[in-house]
Amino acid sequence: MKAPTCVKNEMTKAETNESESEPDPPEASDLKVIVANLEVDELEGIGPAMKAKLNATGIVTVLDLAVKSPSDVADAVGSDLTRATELCNKARAKLVELKYFDDDFISATEIYRRRKSIERISTGSKSLDDLLAGGIETQAVTEFYGEFGSGKTQICHTLCVTTQTSREQGGLGGSVVYVDTENTFRPERIAEIARARGLNTEEILNGIVVAKAFNSSHQELIVGELGSQIRTRGVRVVVVDSAVAHYRAEFLGRGTLSERQQRLNRFMHTLVRTAEVYNIAVVATNQVQSSPDTFFGDPTKATGGNVVAHTSTYRIYLRKSGKNRVARMVDSPYHAEREVIFILDEKGIDDPPEEASSSGRRKTSS
Ligand SMILES: Nc1ncnc2c1ncn2[C@@H]1O[C@H](COP(=O)(O)OP(=O)(O)OP(=O)(O)O)[C@@H](O)[C@H]1O
Ligand SMILES: [Mg+2]
Repeated sequence: MKAPTCVKNEMTKAETNESESEPDPPEASDLKVIVANLEVDELEGIGPAMKAKLNATGIVTVLDLAVKSPSDVADAVGSDLTRATELCNKARAKLVELKYFDDDFISATEIYRRRKSIERISTGSKSLDDLLAGGIETQAVTEFYGEFGSGKTQICHTLCVTTQTSREQGGLGGSVVYVDTENTFRPERIAEIARARGLNTEEILNGIVVAKAFNSSHQELIVGELGSQIRTRGVRVVVVDSAVAHYRAEFLGRGTLSERQQRLNRFMHTLVRTAEVYNIAVVATNQVQSSPDTFFGDPTKATGGNVVAHTSTYRIYLRKSGKNRVARMVDSPYHAEREVIFILDEKGIDDPPEEASSSGRRKTSS
């Protein structure tokens, strides 16, 4: 599809006779449509043979290409790394040219303006939303980590429902991809949460695509192929529950640590690029190092080490406190480090009754 900006550009050049003149930027919504339909052969140097190779691996649009790392592209099309890097750079440059991506140097005012357009999805609990400054953000990876039963999977299930509600209700009216690595996705629980929130259970279930990942390679394959799902189904949230479990189970012992971290690093970076490029929210869960099969250290530390810690945009630590659950924002670039209380009930994630909430808040902040 030819971008209307190009037409506008030619008119401007003809009128002003200035070859360097800048076209007016299209409206944000037009730009999304233009970019979503921009196929890889719109890039200079991509002919029918390369297009066919890319398409065969699920890389159809310039966005699909931009989300990949050069090594992903090299593996996919069987080219060398230099050629693959060139392709990724071209995709990025095209998106910068269209003003879909930021230029390398950009003013803080412009970043501030763009950050205002980030959308948020309610978690289902006002206090948890408050901790997240309004809800889960698009263009970011939000990691929930904590011990078993702390509510990670319940948050993921609730988000499957809230994402589909209207903006007035705290959602984005979009669908969800749920990458289930631990076989803990339960449609019955989704139905219960939807019913308790007064929503149509069938419609909600229809808006969730579940991908069961059998091992870490399969998990990487699924996430590498998200582009077509996002394009065709209007996906606004991708859940990976859990991001680290397969790596943890498959790479045992210190001898395999470096390979594990490399693979995990690549996986986490794919998640970050997916969130940024497609303007969706990615939610990943992670356990804590509580068992002796992992390494020495703090039992409240997330697994995955620095790789996951440094790649997630926001990290929330969850713990049990009697029947309540406590969420703490950790290492956020702009949220204050504090704690809130939420509960698990038929609505999934919910706020505790007023009284319990205020006494609990006093307790956790002391
Ligand atoms: N229908 C329900 N109503 C109320 N609470 C529920 C319901 N279903 C599950 N729970 C609560 O959710 C808890 C399990 O939480 P969750 O599955 O989110 O744990 P998790 O943090 O994902 O743990 P793991 O590390 O084992 O995956 C249960 O202990 C129970 O208290
Ligand atoms: Mg779980």
